[in-house]
Amino acid sequence: MCGIIGFAGREQAAPILLDGLERMEYRGYDSAGIAVRSATKGLQVKKTKGRLQVLRDLTHDGAELEGTLGIGHTRWATHGEPNDINAHPHVSENGRIALVHNGIIENYLEIKEQLQRHGVTFTSDTDSEVVAQLLEFHYNECHNMLEAVGRVLRRIQGSYAFGIICSDYPNALIAARKDSPLILGFGENGNFIASDVTAIIKHTRDVVYMDDGEIAVVTAENIDVFDSEMNPLEKKHSQVDWDVSAAEKGGYAHFMFKEIMEQPEAIRKTVSPRVREGRVVLDDLRLPAEYVRDISRIFIIACGSSYHVGMVSKYNWERLLRRPVEVCLASEFRYSDPLVDEKSLVVVISQSGETLDTMAAMREAKRLGARTLAIVNVVGSSIAREADDVLYTWAGPEIAVATTKAYSTQLVLMDLVGLYLADLLGTVEKSEYDAILWELQTLPEKLEQVLTHVEDIQYFASRYFNHNSIFFIGRNLDYAMGLEGSLKLKEISYIHSEAYASGELKHGTISLIEPGTLVVALGTYAALFDKSMSNVVEVKARGAEVLAVTTERFREKMEKTADSTVVVPDTHPILQPSLGVVPLQLFAYYVALQRGCDIDKPRNLAKSVTVE
Ligand code: G6P
Repeated sequence: MCGIIGFAGREQAAPILLDGLERMEYRGYDSAGIAVRSATKGLQVKKTKGRLQVLRDLTHDGAELEGTLGIGHTRWATHGEPNDINAHPHVSENGRIALVHNGIIENYLEIKEQLQRHGVTFTSDTDSEVVAQLLEFHYNECHNMLEAVGRVLRRIQGSYAFGIICSDYPNALIAARKDSPLILGFGENGNFIASDVTAIIKHTRDVVYMDDGEIAVVTAENIDVFDSEMNPLEKKHSQVDWDVSAAEKGGYAHFMFKEIMEQPEAIRKTVSPRVREGRVVLDDLRLPAEYVRDISRIFIIACGSSYHVGMVSKYNWERLLRRPVEVCLASEFRYSDPLVDEKSLVVVISQSGETLDTMAAMREAKRLGARTLAIVNVVGSSIAREADDVLYTWAGPEIAVATTKAYSTQLVLMDLVGLYLADLLGTVEKSEYDAILWELQTLPEKLEQVLTHVEDIQYFASRYFNHNSIFFIGRNLDYAMGLEGSLKLKEISYIHSEAYASGELKHGTISLIEPGTLVVALGTYAALFDKSMSNVVEVKARGAEVLAVTTERFREKMEKTADSTVVVPDTHPILQPSLGVVPLQLFAYYVALQRGCDIDKPRNLAKSVTVE
């Protein structure tokens, strides 16, 4: 949520900042701005409502701003509507200090009122401007920028990643973080700060992940990191192994479509290194066997699509592990006085590894004594670093706001972990273990088959894109998969959509079915196929138009009832959602395309949500 970049180097900063912001636009895209400092022109700030292209046009792709030191920001509004004034950077009253901020300052009103009593005038509605003004206030007192930053950090409450430049310091930018991601990048022609690796990957792979409470001073030659007491720190460097091309569209019209098409390869990368000689090998998992044997309860905690992975995994893990599994929305878990203890295993799932709700829930679980295992895509992210154990999905950078390949790799990784734990507990038959593992390895080829039929789904989307309300129904794993299909559709096409457990329809929702209502019926879960079919017949009888997703095995039966049918290959029942979800992703994509929506950047959303 909100993207931050900063550069101190030997090249013009503005074009570098704009390029970095463009790569991070998925973090927020309602407004954007940059501030650059030069010896001749001093501090120059340009910011505007709208997409990054508007800022590009305004600055002639950065040519308008002169200087080799600068900061940039792309915003997802929290305090104050998206407009030019509320856009970052925010500048202090005397024009000397510019600041970009990601996060929320909780006590900003109190500080604002105090500063107003000292005669400070504010121009924006944001909590972030308050920090810029407070900095100036302290800087005027102590005349030392680093000292002023220290005083401000001691005064503010909330979450933040800051990038700060001051016209009195021609060569340095200052960064600080707490509960909001910030990385430092070491480049050949200068050094960087960024909220996201993708922003700077073109320039460097040599990064340091800042921890909470740390402050960094970045110059063209060097980066010095300090703790909150201003003691210098030696930080460990990491090498990012993402390929630059992975974060580019590479000829595809949208990142979302590219990422859908990348799924077979992404799943291969998640699964293959973890299967050796017919066994699941999780080298990174340090869960002691005695601990696993003692687990009384498992909690899976996540938000959005990651939560839907949890829904699928609940069915699969309970079947494999014979242990109770509870799936919790992170935002609810935290405040629900959860019944977590030392015998609980808490699994958190997060693509970004930065979702604040998930992070807070994980901390609560740790506080209650549970062991935490994180399933994360972004290497070095906050959740990955704080969890007791982390397993990476290795899906590569995912840029489209609506997740696809990250969801798919989370699913298979959860299946691998489930299988691994079931083996440790002795709750899975060898034949079942072998069958699942075999099918997991063949998933990529089966997915490739599904992806050779994209035109069929494009055709169905052209038939149905005008509907105003669409229902997804299914039982068991099909219900869990329907939740994701429905979310994908509403996220990017803005069509109202709900997912229901088919058996629950008759208890209320069926009243909404009228002639012409589109129902997406999911019939891939073999054990309950006949029961699901009865529900399909029920909605047909009330005039619904049915678009079905089923497997080869049930093609004939389904085609007799449904108006349109998409067929995916059969696989082991617990893996069927990995194949079934792909037509749903494609359906959402093509419907959104037909409706002329901004697919990669849907309204009001952001990919990484670092506010509560
Ligand atoms: C946001 C995104 C969703 C995502 C959710 C959880 O709401 O728009 O697509 O599923 O956050 O994100 P995470 O990074 O924790 O998986």
